[in-house]
Amino acid sequence: MSAVGTPSIDRDRVRELIAREERALDARTGRSAETYQRANRSLAGGVASSYQLRDPWPIYLERGEGPVVWDVDGNRMWDFHNGFGSMVQGHAHPAIGAAVQERYAKGTHFAAPTEDAIAVAEELARRFGLPQWRYTNSGSESTMDAIRIARAFTGRDTIMKIFGSYHGHHDAVMVSIGVEYDEIGDPDDLASLPYGAGIPQAVVDLTVAVPFNDAAAMERRIERLIAEDRKPACVIMEAAMMNLGVVLPEDGYLQAVRDITAKHGIVLIFDEVKTGLCIAAGGATERWGVTPDLVTLAKALGGGLPMGAIGGSDEVMSVVRDGTVYQVGTYNGNPLGVAATRASLTEVLTPEAYAHLDALNERITTACDMVIQKYGLPGYAVGVGSKGCVTFSPEKVVDYATFKAHQDAELSELAWLFNMNRGIFMTPGREEEWTLSVTHTEEAIDDYVAVFDELASELVG
Ligand SMILES: Cc1ncc(COP(=O)(O)O)c(C=O)c1O
Repeated sequence: MSAVGTPSIDRDRVRELIAREERALDARTGRSAETYQRANRSLAGGVASSYQLRDPWPIYLERGEGPVVWDVDGNRMWDFHNGFGSMVQGHAHPAIGAAVQERYAKGTHFAAPTEDAIAVAEELARRFGLPQWRYTNSGSESTMDAIRIARAFTGRDTIMKIFGSYHGHHDAVMVSIGVEYDEIGDPDDLASLPYGAGIPQAVVDLTVAVPFNDAAAMERRIERLIAEDRKPACVIMEAAMMNLGVVLPEDGYLQAVRDITAKHGIVLIFDEVKTGLCIAAGGATERWGVTPDLVTLAKALGGGLPMGAIGGSDEVMSVVRDGTVYQVGTYNGNPLGVAATRASLTEVLTPEAYAHLDALNERITTACDMVIQKYGLPGYAVGVGSKGCVTFSPEKVVDYATFKAHQDAELSELAWLFNMNRGIFMTPGREEEWTLSVTHTEEAIDDYVAVFDELASELVG
């Protein structure tokens, strides 16, 4: 991570460029506009998930191959969005395709375990250092079940999360996300606020948030909750925040959290839905050498199929084993999903693949930092494994409050438009980071950097 540059951005120029780039994107996505007219009649908002909404219309995709996607207008783009970080294997990987085809011919669903389910659990146990596993179909199911397991194991209701972190769309974790800066509250008494409507206040009140990268604040809050007879069942957190761009843990933070939770008998859940498999073979758990009690996985796990998993210690997972907790689901361990996952883990996400991702990450973050220095932009590049971003901020972002206070939303919006108009498919939204795939090449990285250089020169030049 480089030192931050000097903020010297002409805001009128930023808005002028945004308007110009919006017009250009509208002009090159006419078929998406037409598709939206049709979609809107039967799909609410024209999309399958609200995270796909976009004004004036979403960009509808047609196909993907390796590191490239094509939209319905035929625009060919390097894919840096990669399905919200799910396609670290690249699109239509032949090894995963072969496994799916082979499995399809033998039947795709029994709601009875297959050998692939065992092989995947063995490999995940090896990677994450946690012996016991179960499956789900999404990240939300994984975090929902992990929290239930923690509650059953401890006999407590309150849970603790990191302010601003996203852990899926079930009620317990749709709390204290996307909050406006002036509503965040005191670091020692952060607000518990529902994220959108339809979440019962009684559930919101059970979720207590603390700032990221501040172990002392976490411990103070835990002690207060204990004094109020509301000791948390678990702390659920991402080891590196992946929904404010990328916010890495400060040195010693994760170990301190591990020590605090162990000392108080609180289950530590690392939500590795984004980090797991994407930043190292054994995710954040391996990368930073801190083992939680439970790990949640999804996204990249299934190589493009809807797979999720929960891994845990023998002790905590005993409540699943002995039937105290019903960890269930018709499609859990679906044969197609576990066949794809097995191929992904054994044939695609190999040690060489992780070395390749690390090298690409080094190349892209170094080159982006050089652009930032060259033009004196307010920001820095940050990355780990396949994940990274340029954070437009004159200050280092360490948690949600610093993100809200300093991140430049307009520059993030402009960068997205610039990318989309120049063959770089990026995740929409100021909070999002890139995901590289094992099929990305230096050419893709260099194109990304060239677009960033062009943006910087138009902004500053
Ligand atoms: C860290 C984290 N946990 C959980 C989820 C929920 O996953 P899903 O969308 O598969 O339910 C997400 C999704 O973005 C996530 O980023």
